[in-house]
Amino acid sequence: MLSDGTVTHKAQIQDVDIFEREFQTLHGIEFNFRDSYKYNIAAYLLDKQLELDMVPVSVARRVGSRTSAVTWWVDDVAMTEWDRVEQKLRSPSPRTWAPQMYAVRLFDQLIDNTDRNGGNLLITDDWVIWMIDHTRGFRTRKSLRSPNDLEWIDRSVLEKLRALDETTLTELLSDYLTGAEIEGVAVRAGLIVELFDERVARLGAGSVLYDLPPR
Ligand SMILES: Nc1ncnc2c1ncn2[C@@H]1O[C@H](COP(=O)(O)OP(=O)(O)O)[C@@H](O)[C@H]1O
Ligand SMILES: [Mg+2]
Repeated sequence: MLSDGTVTHKAQIQDVDIFEREFQTLHGIEFNFRDSYKYNIAAYLLDKQLELDMVPVSVARRVGSRTSAVTWWVDDVAMTEWDRVEQKLRSPSPRTWAPQMYAVRLFDQLIDNTDRNGGNLLITDDWVIWMIDHTRGFRTRKSLRSPNDLEWIDRSVLEKLRALDETTLTELLSDYLTGAEIEGVAVRAGLIVELFDERVARLGAGSVLYDLPPR
């Protein structure tokens, strides 16, 4: 529980910070595996930079003897994405649901998230989606893991991605990411922009770009 005397609110504390040369994941062995609280903070900063507003605020704080990511607790969670699929529920408003899901896919390609499972997408009572748990993101690969996930993009997010060069990203993220991790984000941002520019040229802006409703 956090309080500044005026506002009192729950927070999640994540202090994981692991490096392994080889690590057995559900998808096979991953080399130079990292699982780090720092990525929760980097994900929040990047979400803010793109103005997605889909990752709860996450900051670095010392908790006991360890530096941790302290993340705003999302209230009014009705279900996870896992629950939604299992219970075969649907948002009453596809117009606001679909763009949020496309934003999730986009974000995961950008941060190269290896751990987007249904438990890491929280859905509130009003069908707003929150992305949490990015501790297994920010791999250094310089390609897109699932480019086919990218079909639509918010017009303003595309322009914000276009502005994400290595200098901007270093200023934003160097407290939490290594140079190689930042370079990975910059390269993937470039690839995403290229992919969407090509789609717009081929299919027309109307089939590729949308305007995200305000959250
Ligand atoms: N900021 C948050 N707001 C609300 N619930 C959260 C938040 N962070 C975590 N949780 C809950 O705790 C669970 C575990 O947290 P998570 O960060 O996903 O860690 P891990 O999957 O590594 O155990 C989540 O699936 C979610 O139910
Ligand atoms: Mg999780």
